[in-house]
Amino acid sequence: MSDSEAQFRTILENAPVMIDAFAADGSVLLWNHECERRLGWTAAELAEMDDPLAVFYPSEDQRAVVFASIERADGKFREYEVVAKDGTVRIQQWADFLLPNGSRISVGHDVTEQRKVEANLRQAQKMQALGTLSGGIAHDFNNLLTIICACASLAQREVPEDSEMARFLQQILKAGEDGADLVRRLMSFSRRDRLRRRAVVFDDVIAKFLPTLRRLIPESLELSIDLDAGDAVVLADRVAIEQVVINLVTNARDAIDGQGTISFRTRKANGPRGPEVHLEVEDDGSGMTRETQERVFEPFFTTKERGSGTGLGLPTAYGLVGQHEGTIDIRSAPGVGTTVRIRLPEHHADPDMLTPSAPMRGLGAGNGETILVVEDDRTVSTMTSRSLQAAGYVVLTASGGDQALAILDEAPEIALVLSDVVMPRMGGEELRRRMAEGPHASVPIAFMSGYNDELDESARLLPKPWTPQQLVVFVRLCLDEAAERNR
Ligand SMILES: Nc1ncnc2c1ncn2[C@@H]1O[C@H](COP(=O)(O)OP(=O)(O)OP(=O)(O)O)[C@@H](O)[C@H]1O
Ligand SMILES: [Mg+2]
Repeated sequence: MSDSEAQFRTILENAPVMIDAFAADGSVLLWNHECERRLGWTAAELAEMDDPLAVFYPSEDQRAVVFASIERADGKFREYEVVAKDGTVRIQQWADFLLPNGSRISVGHDVTEQRKVEANLRQAQKMQALGTLSGGIAHDFNNLLTIICACASLAQREVPEDSEMARFLQQILKAGEDGADLVRRLMSFSRRDRLRRRAVVFDDVIAKFLPTLRRLIPESLELSIDLDAGDAVVLADRVAIEQVVINLVTNARDAIDGQGTISFRTRKANGPRGPEVHLEVEDDGSGMTRETQERVFEPFFTTKERGSGTGLGLPTAYGLVGQHEGTIDIRSAPGVGTTVRIRLPEHHADPDMLTPSAPMRGLGAGNGETILVVEDDRTVSTMTSRSLQAAGYVVLTASGGDQALAILDEAPEIALVLSDVVMPRMGGEELRRRMAEGPHASVPIAFMSGYNDELDESARLLPKPWTPQQLVVFVRLCLDEAAERNR
């Protein structure tokens, strides 16, 4: 080989793209450094192979496309899935050229990472669109359910307890509450529910929840637990984290037919943005196909039989984890099993002192206090008033923030303002601001809404849809709290 040939070869060997060359008889002429780096095989290993293409392209269809491209040798890039030495599938683009002496040269580059980034972006955009859509539906649905539940509950008071009508009404209420549960889960997905996050030791939260978890799992399944995040603190809503854990463990349980193991691990790790806490739920159940994996975070996507899955478990987990600035990823293979990993940022602060929540008092009965209900939906307003009146409160109503301020000027006896959040003209948050700045700063205000993005963390909130019982208990709590503050 001449000097310049040798130099030429060195350049090809070290080129930043993959280059391989085969003689007409199939022997290897070149397998450069980049080929080895991307696919794992060395030139010596390649020379040993009987049929390298069968190794790189196990699927016959894919191999046929490769052959056709080699045949054409038109120098155009085509995209392939190539199996590397470690068994991973790489996405690569290759172009083939033919020399007059019958040797073939191929040039390729690896786009696996790029495709991954693109897929993540597409997934993020899809999830955002679905979030907006389902959040909007949940919002409107909430008002309907509030009316259904409240009407059924009020009607119950009008009929004898053991009548058939009472049973029908009970069924309506039950269905309404199931609907409310569904809506709540949708709201978690679209990140419209409200979390109470505080600094907690992650392993403590999980450890306290283990007994409940065990009850979810039948005897035939082994539950292996390894809590190793130590004293790592996260900023988390305990109930939300429990919900995520339930959803993951339920899925793992459902994926195992007969005997199997669910492994549950926590640990500290270093992530791209700093220290993290990881939670992994692994099962050796059915696993998922690629097609399933691509869709699991879509609301209502389920492979389970009608009635046994709603397809909201993972979307809810996705939404809740996102609200903790965390991420969730899934590794799964059919017949092998599934590992779901949650990553949460570690929080650097002492865990909050546990403040016990106020005990529920009585059944929320009123003592003739005056409540100003601010609600633009006429039916919801009527239901709210009727429920409060039935519980012993005096009720005034306003259809918006502006009217509420006018009524407050006229009626000094108002003990509590109970307001919707989203209303035309003046919404709940502005009403609160105006009250705080003006002569009504001492009147407490609480909100009822299913759509609480724009509310301050400290605001008292009754999530819609509520039942009349929840409404009166909530109002009593707000009044008692205000009384305590003024004492
Ligand atoms: N651990 C797992 N193993 C195998 N498949 C899973 C696993 N977790 C989720 N899946 C698949 O993802 C789908 C969606 O899961 P998701 O939890 O969102 O809904 P679901 O379990 O079907 O219903 P729901 O949780 O609302 O009762 C499941 O139907 C199942 O096909
Ligand atoms: Mg599920």
